[in-house]
Amino acid sequence: MPRLEPATASARHTAPPPGLISLADHEAHARSVLDPATWAYINGGAGDGFTLRANRDAWDAVALHPRVLAPLAGLETRTTLLGKACPSPILVAPMARHGLAHPDGELATALAASALGAGFVLGTQSGRPLEEVAKAFAPGGERGPLWFQLYGFGDRDGMRELVARASAAGYEAVMLTVDAPVQGVRDDERRAGFAPPPGLPMPHLPPQAAAGLADLLARAPTWDDVAWLLAHSPLPVLLKGITHPDDARLAVELGVAGLVVSNHGGRVLDTMPATATLLPAVASAVAGRCAVLVDGGVRRGTDIVKAIALGADAVLVGRPILHGLANAGAAGAAHVLRLLGDEFSAAMALCGRRRVADLRDPALVGRPAP
Ligand code: FNR
Ligand code: LAC
Repeated sequence: MPRLEPATASARHTAPPPGLISLADHEAHARSVLDPATWAYINGGAGDGFTLRANRDAWDAVALHPRVLAPLAGLETRTTLLGKACPSPILVAPMARHGLAHPDGELATALAASALGAGFVLGTQSGRPLEEVAKAFAPGGERGPLWFQLYGFGDRDGMRELVARASAAGYEAVMLTVDAPVQGVRDDERRAGFAPPPGLPMPHLPPQAAAGLADLLARAPTWDDVAWLLAHSPLPVLLKGITHPDDARLAVELGVAGLVVSNHGGRVLDTMPATATLLPAVASAVAGRCAVLVDGGVRRGTDIVKAIALGADAVLVGRPILHGLANAGAAGAAHVLRLLGDEFSAAMALCGRRRVADLRDPALVGRPAP
């Protein structure tokens, strides 16, 4: 597969190719337009890909038990997150380097998310400065939450500065990722020979000397760093990558505003269980004391219904957004979000639920009454 020249890639932004009617279609098409090494980086998992596959399989394994004949007029996907009303419980997951999928990078993704009423979590490893991205996430109208993801690189001054910049630019929360103190063992990437293109900027990171393992371990964030961040951040703090109920309890006791049940899309520790499996115990440990989000393998509107029934307040969607971006820039990412949003509304109606709050019902995913 030839590598796409930037000029060719920029032409891919007007409309998604015809015939793509599901997120799986977008995925297959993206595979045909991206070079194999970039594909391996975006779509690959850690190790043998067990967790990557398990995430998807676990949503499929949850059965829905709808009720019929409930009134549906006025059905809406509106919900509340961190005390703020938002148009839907769908957010774009923080991901590094959107510029690999399309030259417009994070600007295109932010535009798509704001247009579709989805939330957007900008990754620290964005290729575009957070201020520019905040402007693209058009203010006004019915927009979702705008949050900034942080890695705790052991540099508290750097973190404090980034959080202050994010707050000044209009981000409404920070999300500290806690499940990747070191890079996962990425066999797919290594086999395909992926290396980040040298020209891709990383405006939020200090110029980095290659860090050895000992250095990474010494800088890995701890609960002390979480407490420090909570004490110094002007913005609410969420933790991403909580999977154990005891860690969830610790996080709640420290005062986090929310947490994300995530195994990093199967990209870090292979053989972790699927997030759909982990979610109920974490949600029950949290017991409504902070927001609970989930990600990993969310590809259908029905997955979102299941996530909420199993205890989540909202979902993050990762790779499909980059697939849409690769296929048609902002229009492609918007199309992915539209497909998912439309499927979610249809699934709500078919389950007989008119409000997101009505989906918070274990009976929806439990055994049918005898
Ligand atoms: C990620 N993810 C991620 N997470 C994070 O906290 N910081 C990051 O910089 C990145 N970078 C990143 C790059 C790419 C290419 C992917 C695919 C993912 C993980 C992401 O936020 C999310 O947890 C998963 O992608 C969710 O799984 P799905 O929806 O991709 O299956
Ligand atoms: C990844 C890192 C950047 O998953 O979080 O690629």
